[in-house]
Amino acid sequence: MFKADRFSDEQISLIKEKIDGKAIIACSGGVDSMVAAVLASKAIGDRLLAIYVDTGMMRKGETDEVRGMLQDLGVNFRIVDASQEYFDALAGVTEPEQKRKIIGEKFIRVFEREAKGFGAKYLVQGTIAPDWIESGDGVRDTIKSHHNVGGLPKDMGMELCEPLRDLYKDEVREVARYLGIKSSERQPFPGPGLAVRCLGEITPENIEIVREACFIVEDEIQKAVAAGKMEMPWQYFAALLPSKSVGVQGDRRAYGRTIVVRAVSSFDAMTAEFSRIPLDVLDKISRRITNTMKDQVNRVVYDITNKPPATIEWE
Ligand code: XMP
Repeated sequence: MFKADRFSDEQISLIKEKIDGKAIIACSGGVDSMVAAVLASKAIGDRLLAIYVDTGMMRKGETDEVRGMLQDLGVNFRIVDASQEYFDALAGVTEPEQKRKIIGEKFIRVFEREAKGFGAKYLVQGTIAPDWIESGDGVRDTIKSHHNVGGLPKDMGMELCEPLRDLYKDEVREVARYLGIKSSERQPFPGPGLAVRCLGEITPENIEIVREACFIVEDEIQKAVAAGKMEMPWQYFAALLPSKSVGVQGDRRAYGRTIVVRAVSSFDAMTAEFSRIPLDVLDKISRRITNTMKDQVNRVVYDITNKPPATIEWE
């Protein structure tokens, strides 16, 4: 049986032993990086600097939320706005693996800059087992280059410390609860952020559409769960398709974008089943999305594929 208290004590000791100087961690606010940051902060105090990179691909209100959490947990942190850099690097790129590589690479470069400024010798990461298994370890095929593995160049110049490498998501959540991290029940959010939910070209305008749609999906599903209409899915969000389809607005022809609603139940993200969302909840989501973004979106579809054969995210 997995014991969160024993795991935490062991890792704090191991980090203390390993890290003899300053360390830096990328903190996205997700449960993985938050747990890694708190363990490292408990081990080495202010010799750890948590960096939150605002990539421009974050969810609505996310940056403020993360700022509050890091403050409450007493972690030494800095917020870096790199959104323009990301949009510039991604301009015109549509191929999913290329996007992931660019995002991973940029992330490390922004980091290196911050790390140099701080004098960090170590890089702490919240990598968990499915991240490196699915990124291909020489034995398995690469399904997706996960942000924290695939984009990592060899010349990074910092030593790695990955305290959660052997854990699965449910175990990380247990550790989070043990450490008193409020985000422990938050749904997972991928490292590359909304970029993997924006098919085709990534522009500030496209990201804004998918950000608003994700917010609506989250809000409506949380309301439906609170009203006892459905069980909380493991993950639930929206994705934006690159193609347009014909619709009608008033008595005029419209030609707009499609939003995909995705909600799945899963145990460890390795497999997943699409959630049976009640139709009236889907109806509400669809109406709210098309009403809020009348000029951009004229179609909403629900993804009814399991993993496998699909993955949870669309890219
Ligand atoms: P997929 O889409 O591969 O996702 O079925 C499995 C789980 O991993 C999340 N995900 C990521 N997490 N970096 C991460 O830290 C990534 O690059 C990444 N890509 C996907 C996804 O949201 C799901 O929970």
